[in-house]
Amino acid sequence: MLTIALTKGRIEEPVVNLLDQAGYGMANVRNKKRELIFNDEHQAIRYCLVKAADSVTYINQGAVDVAFVGSDVIAESDRTFYEVLDLNVGRCDFVLAAPKGVDLFARDGHLKIGTKYPEFTKQYFQGKGYDVEIIKIEGSVELSPLIGVVDGIIDIMETGNTLRQNGLVVVDNIQPVSTRMIVNTASFRTKSGAISELIERLGGVVNA
Ligand code: PRP
Repeated sequence: MLTIALTKGRIEEPVVNLLDQAGYGMANVRNKKRELIFNDEHQAIRYCLVKAADSVTYINQGAVDVAFVGSDVIAESDRTFYEVLDLNVGRCDFVLAAPKGVDLFARDGHLKIGTKYPEFTKQYFQGKGYDVEIIKIEGSVELSPLIGVVDGIIDIMETGNTLRQNGLVVVDNIQPVSTRMIVNTASFRTKSGAISELIERLGGVVNA
C-alpha cells in the first residue's frame, strides 16, 4: 500500500486533476465531505488530505510515502526527502513587497519583515548582507505592514490581486514556485515499483 499526502487548498484541485489524467481514479477524493483519508483498494493507494507543512512532517516521520507540496513549503523545510518531479501547477512567485512609496533597501538601520516563511526570509536577507528582524505571520501577511507591525513582507504572489488591493508593490520578484512531488527516502527504496510508476505516469501527463 502506498500512502500519498495531498495538500489541501490552492494546489489540491490541480494535483487531483493530474492524478486523474494519469489514470488514478480520484472520484472519491473529489466528492469528499469532511473525510481526511481515502483508500483505493484497486490501485493499493491510500490518500490523506493534509495542510502543506504537515505533508513534510508526515514524510519525515515515514507516515506517508509520497506528498505533493509547493516549492515554497520545501524551501522552508529541512529537505530530508527526495524531490522527484515538478508538476508545473500551482505556479506563483516568492516576492518581497512593501507599501507603495517605501524604499526598503534605502533605509538605514532596522528592517522588520513579516512572513509565513521565516527560514526562506532569513536566507534571502543573509544573501543580501542585511540584518532584519523577522516576524512570523500565519496568514493574510499583507495586513502586517498596513497596521505598522513590519516594513515589508516576503510571501507568495499568484495573481497579485491581494498586494494591489492592499496598496503594496513588489520590491523584488525572488523566485518562481510550483508544486513538486516529494518522496520519503526509505519508501523510495522499499516501494520503488509503485513510486516509479507514479513518477512515470504523472511525468507523462505533465510533459504532454
Ligand atoms: C496566499 C498568499 C497571498 C495570496 C496571494 O495566501 O499568502 O496572501 O495567496 O495570491 P494573489 O496574488 O492571487 O492575490 P492564501 O490564499 O494561501 O491564504 P493565507 O494568507 O490565509 O495563507
